[in-house]
Amino acid sequence: MTIQEFVEETLRNDCSGHDKFHAERVAKLAAQLAEQEGLENEQNLIQTAAYVHDVIDIKVVSDVDEAKQALNDVLSQSFTSEDVNHIFEIIEHLSYSKNLDQQYVLSKEGQVVQDADRIDALGAIGIARTFAFGGANQRTMYDPTIKPQKELTQASYQKYEGTTINHFYEKLLKLESMMNTQSGKRIAHERTLYMRQFLDEFYKEWDGQK
Ligand code: ADP
Ligand code: NI
Repeated sequence: MTIQEFVEETLRNDCSGHDKFHAERVAKLAAQLAEQEGLENEQNLIQTAAYVHDVIDIKVVSDVDEAKQALNDVLSQSFTSEDVNHIFEIIEHLSYSKNLDQQYVLSKEGQVVQDADRIDALGAIGIARTFAFGGANQRTMYDPTIKPQKELTQASYQKYEGTTINHFYEKLLKLESMMNTQSGKRIAHERTLYMRQFLDEFYKEWDGQK
């Protein structure tokens, strides 16, 4: 099985914004960032880590250990064991929730992959993915009486059942200041402005001012 076949098969049924097109966009974004950050020689490892980053995530697969074993097997066909370990090191530590309790220091390559994944959580695509996730997880779209959580831990974030609009305050609007690379920061800034405009418009329409 090729890496592409494995990813497409694993993400086939996802309706929560973690489908194969997310994987493809993140790989493409990572390639752009890698070029701008002078990591051309690591393009293959970076793009592959970006492309496979969600296939061992509990949100997407029911048996994480089985998924890890399968990913290890498929990566080992094209990468040295050192590179396979590096790819695992990246994708096991990049998620927002894992970095709430403690901050992992990622390699340069990992920082690019993390930025690429974060960028795909922002902008028009980010908005669409967030509402898709909310729907797939039976979340209320918005309830003005439910306020965003201030103190987030990995546990409280993962078991959280708040509204989709709150997710903007609990994660999405914070990402810009958390970006690792300069080139990533620029894109995150533009996309965050767009999301703020969306929220302004949303509240106006909600309040019947438009
Ligand atoms: P990570 O993979 O970095 O831990 P998440 O799994 O939290 O990130 O989020 C991936 C994407 O899924 C988010 O960018 C968002 O679009 C969506 N998402 C995650 N949690 C929520 C939530 N509670 N409400 C709405 N969307 C969410
Ligand atoms: Ni992702």
